[in-house]
Order: sequence, then structure tokens, then C-alpha cells
Amino acid sequence: MNVYARQARYFREAYQRGEHGWPVEGPEPRIAAALRRLVPRLPGGRVLDLGCGEGRHTFDAAERGFRVIGVDAEPLAIRRARALAAKHPGAGDRAGFVVADLFALPFRPSTFDVLIDYGCFHHVTRADTRRYLDGVLPLLKPGGYFLLSCFSTRFKHHPGERRTRDWVVHRGHYDRFFRKRDFASMFGGWCDVLAIREERDGLSGFYHVTMRRKDAEHRGVERPVDAVVKSDGLRRGSGVHVR
Ligand SMILES: C[S@@+](CC[C@H](N)C(=O)[O-])C[C@H]1O[C@@H](n2cnc3c(N)ncnc32)[C@H](O)[C@@H]1O
Repeated sequence: MNVYARQARYFREAYQRGEHGWPVEGPEPRIAAALRRLVPRLPGGRVLDLGCGEGRHTFDAAERGFRVIGVDAEPLAIRRARALAAKHPGAGDRAGFVVADLFALPFRPSTFDVLIDYGCFHHVTRADTRRYLDGVLPLLKPGGYFLLSCFSTRFKHHPGERRTRDWVVHRGHYDRFFRKRDFASMFGGWCDVLAIREERDGLSGFYHVTMRRKDAEHRGVERPVDAVVKSDGLRRGSGVHVR
């Protein structure tokens, strides 16, 4: 079984148990603060929440007036997110959810003003970094914002944990750990890195990174727009249904 198949089982079982180690409700304060700052710049803008889980950041963005799609590969997480919609009347009909793998996202290029990835990218293998970038970043409009939160090298699964490399397969899932300088080197071709904030709390270590997609002129080659897409941003025939 390859690492992603094991990881999918890990997430499925975590949602089945109902104890997965990250909050079900309530956005991470730094994501909420970043979204609050973006509201006046991008009123009613489109947001994509990658690996949305039960949708805590999807709902927060929708409650701020953004039109948001949360995607997650785990159907149970998406079912729970849809059920939680009743608790978020302030999100109106602006929050929708789709079961999709981030390596096969059913959206056309330059659809979104903001991407959020809270805790998904660090489960992508080093070897698939380019595949992630090439799959995800074209979905962001030039000038759009990317809010990325991922493990720092200071993150530990248990006190005294020692690692000899920047990734580990831990209890059936892949975790990767980042240094501050990694973000410019990984994302610099696509984005300007605007801010990197480190969060440390006990064993937890995270980087919260705000990036902005360069425009085509500064990036060099722009990607061709995929012709087989609907105007609402979902690929025709993809079989996905929002909400
Ligand atoms: C650590 S959880 C974070 C959930 C959510 N972002 C939050 O902050 O509450 C990571 C999520 O990423 C999802 N995920 C992992 N790999 C994925 C992939 N290849 N495509 C889509 N979702 C994925 C998992 O199912 C899980 O819900």
C-alpha cells in the first residue's frame, strides 16, 4: 500500500473515531485575522479551503462574506461539514463542500481570490511538491492570496522526538516539517512571500505563511485556460456537486 493509501485510511479512521487532534469548530486565530484583513480588499471574493476537514475555516470565510468552497478527500469529513452548516446561519449559502483530492481539483485556472491550506500541504510528500504547486497555484488569480499553515521543524509528536530528516511516516501518515527559508524556495516561482509567522505551543510548531500570487508578467509563462470548464469554476462532467 502506498503512502497516500495508508494516509487516506489514517484520516478516515481519525474522522470515524471523532478524535483527530485538531479542532472541529473555530478557525485558527491567525487564519481568521488574515481573512478579516482581506475582506475590504476582496469583498465577496472566492475562497478555496484545501483539505478543509469539517470546514471550520470554510465557515469562517463564508461568515465574512466570501464565497467559499471547502474540498477534502475524506467523504466523512465533508459529510460532517455539510451537517455543521446548520450551526453557521451567518455563512448563508456562501459555503459549499466538495469531495476531491488536491491532486485532481475540479476547478478552472484563476478561479479563486484566496487559497487556504491549513494542515494539508505538510501531508504531501517531498517528491510531490511540484505536483502540488502545479495543481493548486494555477487556481489562484494573479494577485490572489495564499494562506498556508504547516508544521515547522520544531513540531514534535512526543517529547524528545529526534528526527534525522524533514519528513516522517508517523502512525500511517506522512508528515513533513519546514524551515523558514523553504517557503521562498518552494513557492517563489509563483508567489511573493509576504509574511511568515511562527507559532510554538508546547510540542506544536507551525508556520503561518501569507503569500500573494505574482501576476503573469512577473511570473513569465502563464498557464493556458482550460476550455472544458463551466463558468462557475467547476469542470464540466467532473461529477462533483457543491453542497
Ligand atoms: C490536519 S487536517 C486539517 C483539516 C482542516 N484544514 C482544519 O484546519 O480543521 C488535514 C486534512 O487534509 C485532508 N487531506 C489530506 N490529504 C488530502 C488530499 N490529497 N486531498 C484532499 N484532502 C486531503 C484530510 O482528509 C484532512 O481532513
